[in-house]
Amino acid sequence: MVIGITGASGFIGKALALAAKERGHRIVAYSRKKNGNVPHADETRPIQPTGDKPALDPSGLDALVHLAGETVYGYWTAAKKQRIRDSRVDLTRRVVDAIQNCKEDGPKTLLCASGTGAYGDRGDEILTESSKRGWGFLADVCAEWEREAGRAATFGVRVVYLRTGMVVGQGGGAWPLLRRVFSLRLGSRIGDGRQWVPWIHIDDEVGLILDAIENLGYNGPINLTAPNPVTNAEMTRTIANLLNTSTFIPVPGFALKLVLGELGSIALESARAKPEVALRNGYEFKYTDLEHALAMCV
Ligand SMILES: NC(=O)c1ccc[n+]([C@@H]2O[C@H](COP(=O)([O-])OP(=O)(O)OC[C@H]3O[C@@H](n4cnc5c(N)ncnc54)[C@H](OP(=O)(O)O)[C@@H]3O)[C@@H](O)[C@H]2O)c1
Repeated sequence: MVIGITGASGFIGKALALAAKERGHRIVAYSRKKNGNVPHADETRPIQPTGDKPALDPSGLDALVHLAGETVYGYWTAAKKQRIRDSRVDLTRRVVDAIQNCKEDGPKTLLCASGTGAYGDRGDEILTESSKRGWGFLADVCAEWEREAGRAATFGVRVVYLRTGMVVGQGGGAWPLLRRVFSLRLGSRIGDGRQWVPWIHIDDEVGLILDAIENLGYNGPINLTAPNPVTNAEMTRTIANLLNTSTFIPVPGFALKLVLGELGSIALESARAKPEVALRNGYEFKYTDLEHALAMCV
């Protein structure tokens, strides 16, 4: 297949491009970078994140995986929040317009990034793809993002929403930061530590995306999360044991919010998400246990 990937230079995009190439697919990477060199790409095409020009040229693709978006890491000023939203919602609208304008030559499958942030803060409730949406900034962004991607279904494209949890792996996402903090003995439980953290190893993240491209049974939302989410307290213990280090005194929620602002409140939110759709489609997870997954990252 010919698979287009936006955000192909990012953490998930790079790993996906490599895994897809190993399965014999051809990769068309979309990037804002001018030098046109994206790892593992057979071809690189430009993407216009803003403006009146078409966002991208999707001609000749069988599937498009749309991962591009402003990183959520960093202090959430009003301007940063606007970039987080616009680089997802507005860009997705323009990507879908470009697919529609491409008519017969465009992709028949669109997989659009989203997140378990879609469920908001839900305590111990088990969250599957059929659970109701949540509330808050990230939940609102995810809802708008998915709504824009979903427009492609109205003209016959199969649309899949990739509701990804915290991806652990080398070279990106939260793990390098967690590892550094714990190695400095500054890692600790956050708040009361009872909040659920949906996680997934990068190999399963890309394995599931490829499964959803190749298997027409996937349609609509998929939780890209390991079958066994952990609480923040369990995650803290697991990392400390693995790195053979002690933990710092628990960080109270208010202190985290003081230092990180609104991003700090996200670390206090609980989403006990389970991958019901993936398991129903017969996907076999390589990593179901956080300790095993993290041991592969150190
Ligand atoms: N990693 C996780 O744990 C996780 C969890 C849940 C959801 N997700 C979602 O999955 C997607 C991919 O995640 P990732 O970790 O691979 O992200 P990443 O490493 O930050 O890569 C995102 C890519 O998007 C492009 N990009 C960055 N800022 C942009 C902007 N303002 N406008 C347009 N394009 C921009 C960049 O590609 P170019 O510079 O080449 O254009 C960048 O390489 C994101 O949408 C993210 O929200 C990730």
